[in-house]
Amino acid sequence: MLIRKSPDVRYSEVTPKSLYLNRRKFLAGVPGAVLAGNELLSPSGRASAATTKLQTVQSALSTTGERINPKEYVTGYNNYYEFGTGKDEPQQLARNFKTYPWIVTVEGECAKPRKFTIDEILKLAPLEERVYRHRCVEAWSIVVPWIGYSLSTLLNQVEPNPKAKFVAFETLYDPKQMLSPLQAGIPLPYVEGLRLDEAMHPLALLTVGMYGETLPPQDGAPVRMVLPWKYGFKSIKSIVKIRLVGGQPASTWNLYAPNEYGFYSNVNPNRDHPRWSQKTERRLGEFGRRTTLMFNGYGDQVASLYKGMDLIRNY
Ligand code: MTE
Repeated sequence: MLIRKSPDVRYSEVTPKSLYLNRRKFLAGVPGAVLAGNELLSPSGRASAATTKLQTVQSALSTTGERINPKEYVTGYNNYYEFGTGKDEPQQLARNFKTYPWIVTVEGECAKPRKFTIDEILKLAPLEERVYRHRCVEAWSIVVPWIGYSLSTLLNQVEPNPKAKFVAFETLYDPKQMLSPLQAGIPLPYVEGLRLDEAMHPLALLTVGMYGETLPPQDGAPVRMVLPWKYGFKSIKSIVKIRLVGGQPASTWNLYAPNEYGFYSNVNPNRDHPRWSQKTERRLGEFGRRTTLMFNGYGDQVASLYKGMDLIRNY
């Protein structure tokens, strides 16, 4: 995402050095966690940038025939504004982010609202490895083997009632561990939303891992969304709250610049961003550009969700 910059401008090029260096105060020792049968054990109860292996099953929803981007590339080039606006900053500044213990509250218009520990989330269903294309609104893309299961599995646990039309998501905001909204340049906590039928679509992945292991902090540990047919900013990280609601929820980038970032944010090469084209993209690690596909190439699965809608107006 871009705060008045052109694509791929490095944050360090536009940030005063004092502010940039101030963020380094987050850096300190990094304890590890242990995983047994997909259960996180962290007796110290402290953060972990150390990932642990996850047992997974193959998924029929995995994209095939794509070259996967190397892990080092993907985990060193992130958008996570709570930990810096430079692509290389979250890997450093989120190193001590405390991601265990962790609770996700699922509430709102449902029969059985409840809190889930991250261990309960890890054990709720078999963890699937799903390779997805991931297209950022800044016109770069990556291919990642994510791990998780469909969000519908979690939502069905709380039994949404007929008044539930949308799902609102919220990231943890802890000023002791994260930058201030002023430093991050966006309102915090980071919030996002989906229509209920989008949230219930099997491709909507409640994600707990990548590359065979738990998520590293900079990629949204311990649990995030991945929505492969939408621009990357819909894929909210480090979720603490999921609320079933009747009305369309707020979303961070729409609050920040409504004329640039809409609620739907489906990948759409026919609708340019006001400041740049969305017709092509740069796959990280490749020279040249690729043509961007409608719904990021997932049209066969998701186009029916938007039947009859004007997708230029509903961007
Ligand atoms: N979630 C939170 N909480 N904060 C963020 O800054 N950035 C979004 C999204 N989720 C963001 C977030 C954006 S702009 C993108 S492109 C993706 O995360 C990036 O995910 P990645 O770093 O795993 O590639």
